[in-house]
Amino acid sequence: MTQGTLLRQITDYANRADPYPLYAELRKTPVSQQGDGLFVVSTYWEIESLLHDPRISSDVRNLSPQAAGALPQEEEATALPPSFLRLDPPEHDRLRRMTMRPFGPPHSPRRVYNMRGELARIVSDLVDGFGDRNQVDLVDDFSYPFPVTVICRLLGIPHEDEARFHSWADTIAASLDPNPDEDPRERRRVAQQARTELGVYLSGLIDERRGAPGDDMLSALVTGHGPDGQMTPMEVLSTAALLLIAGHETTVNLIANGMLTLLRNPDVLKRLRDDPQLAVPLVEELLRFEPPVQLLPQRTTLADIDIADTTIPMGASVWLVLASGNRDPQRFLDPDRFDPDRRDNQHLGFGSGIHNCFGAPLARLEAQLALTELARRLGNPRLVEDPPPYRQNAVLRGPRHLNIAFDGLRA
Ligand code: HEM
Repeated sequence: MTQGTLLRQITDYANRADPYPLYAELRKTPVSQQGDGLFVVSTYWEIESLLHDPRISSDVRNLSPQAAGALPQEEEATALPPSFLRLDPPEHDRLRRMTMRPFGPPHSPRRVYNMRGELARIVSDLVDGFGDRNQVDLVDDFSYPFPVTVICRLLGIPHEDEARFHSWADTIAASLDPNPDEDPRERRRVAQQARTELGVYLSGLIDERRGAPGDDMLSALVTGHGPDGQMTPMEVLSTAALLLIAGHETTVNLIANGMLTLLRNPDVLKRLRDDPQLAVPLVEELLRFEPPVQLLPQRTTLADIDIADTTIPMGASVWLVLASGNRDPQRFLDPDRFDPDRRDNQHLGFGSGIHNCFGAPLARLEAQLALTELARRLGNPRLVEDPPPYRQNAVLRGPRHLNIAFDGLRA
């Protein structure tokens, strides 16, 4: 199979349920050139090295016109400027530092920790909501509403508005999918429209917070100032949109992939029920074994880069296949085995380097609490179909529905 065919197979929906054998093929050429000048990197050390390489840019404005056409630049030329996910230093670092001030160390080290009680309450209310049903769709009934409720509380966005931004968030997440069968310009147009509408919605809230700040992140972004000064209104908007979207689909997929994996490994599910402490290494192993972000398709080289006997020329588009790096036998012992006792587990599930996941502490806590509570409360849970139907998206990969049958809820 040629590398081009291989990539097409990876993006092909027919292989969504199990792309891992295709990644194993891909790793035979650690850095492969595709027909259209795209370079795909699939081995752990090469991905790790490029994620730390300042000659690789995340800035959307550096994407080649070809890549910009093939990939939706949903932030381009819309009401919203690029968020810090799509910027390079020094702009990236400044905005990330300013966003971190109200979220994590050194200024707000307790923020996520202090949310524990509230998160546990949301989880247990959602499980209570299963009522006396003996079958639920874990995605719609649990793993979607949970992180969405949490990110709304964190940002200070009224949960009643969820229905309004649900479809914008879905559209923006779908636009990340490099689906070769779709017209990229049409996809970009739709994504830009969604971003604009989300921007208009958020700007109303931001105006409110400016007048009457609360203790939420949106208020902190609007009013906060430190050594880096204050964010401009447009910077607040694009940062709030980034947090809202990033806090959506990814954690949904981690919880759904997690429950699917546990139901396929009932011995581990039983261990988690008996020992909630297992949740910590278990979630790390899930991030390695079934990462919600499978690949990063938006990097550009700023210089010629020699790597793995290949020269990636300046201006090339690069895809970093995190999920393949996570299964690289050169890095992980017996990588296709799901092993929550794995000690050496420096996975790529949250990326690495300067863009490593900003929300990782929150995402970890959410998944740990969610899976522990599901394991504890569901009586004899089992999958109704395996594999479940997946979302179209090859980048943010996870089940669209996860129907689970069970014999009642434990108290
Ligand atoms: C399981 C859930 C999650 C996964 C697997 C995940 C994964 C990732 C990955 C792989 C990156 C690196 C992107 C890159 O290098 O281009 C990233 C960045 C980011 N994530 Fe997450 N994420 C998750 C949850 C969250 C949550 C809950 C938030 C918000 C609270 C969040 C906010 C961000 C932000 C703001 C960035 C950009 C960081 C930067 O550019 O410096 N993520 N995430």
